[in-house]
Amino acid sequence: VRDELSVGVVGASGFTGRELCRLLLGHRRVGRILPAARSAEPFERRHRNLLGSGLQFVSAERLVEQARELDVVFFCTPAGEAMRLAGHFLDEGSAVIDLGADFRFPDPATYRAVYGVEHAAPHLLAQVVYGVPELARDAIRGARLVANPGCYVIAALLAVAPLIGDDGVDPGALVGIHAVNGTTGAGNTSRPELHHAAVANDMLPYSLEGHRHCPELELQLARLAGRTVRVDFNTAHGPFARGIYLQASVQLRRGDGVNRDVLLDRYKERYGAGHRGEHFVLVVDFPKTGGCNAKEYDVYPDMASVLGSNFCHLGVDYDAAHAVVRVVSVLDNLVKGAAGTAIQNMNLLFSFDESEGLRHYGL
Ligand SMILES: NC(=O)c1ccc[n+]([C@@H]2O[C@H](COP(=O)([O-])OP(=O)(O)OC[C@H]3O[C@@H](n4cnc5c(N)ncnc54)[C@H](OP(=O)(O)O)[C@@H]3O)[C@@H](O)[C@H]2O)c1
Repeated sequence: VRDELSVGVVGASGFTGRELCRLLLGHRRVGRILPAARSAEPFERRHRNLLGSGLQFVSAERLVEQARELDVVFFCTPAGEAMRLAGHFLDEGSAVIDLGADFRFPDPATYRAVYGVEHAAPHLLAQVVYGVPELARDAIRGARLVANPGCYVIAALLAVAPLIGDDGVDPGALVGIHAVNGTTGAGNTSRPELHHAAVANDMLPYSLEGHRHCPELELQLARLAGRTVRVDFNTAHGPFARGIYLQASVQLRRGDGVNRDVLLDRYKERYGAGHRGEHFVLVVDFPKTGGCNAKEYDVYPDMASVLGSNFCHLGVDYDAAHAVVRVVSVLDNLVKGAAGTAIQNMNLLFSFDESEGLRHYGL
């Protein structure tokens, strides 16, 4: 590995590609960024927040030709693209991190069932590492091909990982996941329902018959729990551009001895408290001071506080009447839900400080 990495970004004209370039420009160990797009538009005209960056789009074909010079290639493309090209980059010695879904399932039949197309590179699936750094750090360190998780999935996994393997959780109950994503979660393809005038005062539920991230989440939860976990997964777009607000409900068999403080201790044990634990996963543990039913908004995470950052804030409480643990998880879908986690994964692959390029706080 060279002192400074050469990095390719396929799909750099899109939302996650732009965010990845923005973060890579501030990364001290990245020397060269080659953003690839099919459009002939100048990079800085397309991404005006990156005016002055000096970056220029190249074609994906040019990246393919220069593969040998690239230490790592990120795919910020719709499902179907990364699996066509990843093998070439791996053969030429680059690591590959796919922000899309092509490598998230170990089994091509599941990929076909969820994404509706045949997998183009099933021979690569055995070497994939599923990249949630907080849950698979050691495996990611030794990987060459990383599947970055879906944005809802990472928010949900971080929310329920401290609970899901516990004997106290009712294995017969569905885990409830209710999440609202910003409109950037839909990608930059133009849709009338997502125009500002349409969505500004609205909520847009979608994929209620079964979101593509649900099988991905159930697979990862089964790995964590060591048993089948079934999820009631509900998604909507909200009237904001970026951010995921997610609430999880986990049914316990019975609630003896459970309360908010006990749960907060559990979460802080899992993720560490403040600077001593996970850098990017923070548990909001401000004590409640009001009486019963006081509306203490600030004891739970708020989504606006993590926007622009790689942080995931978690909050937890307990509904004793129903023995249900409620967890709030907030993150920026384009950062911790996509480009930020991808850079965390790159940092692990190249043995850099895991937080390099990602230390800034929310807006
Ligand atoms: N948005 C999120 O919050 C989010 C979070 C986590 C993961 N992801 C995943 O990350 C990937 C990129 O998402 P995004 O939101 O950045 O998407 P996007 O804004 O729609 O951008 C995708 C880019 O891929 C390029 N592209 C290359 N081949 C394409 C093809 N065959 N069809 C359409 N576009 C093609 C397009 O650029 P050119 O036309 O210029 O080549 C486009 O700008 C997706 O797989 C998505 O599921 C997204």
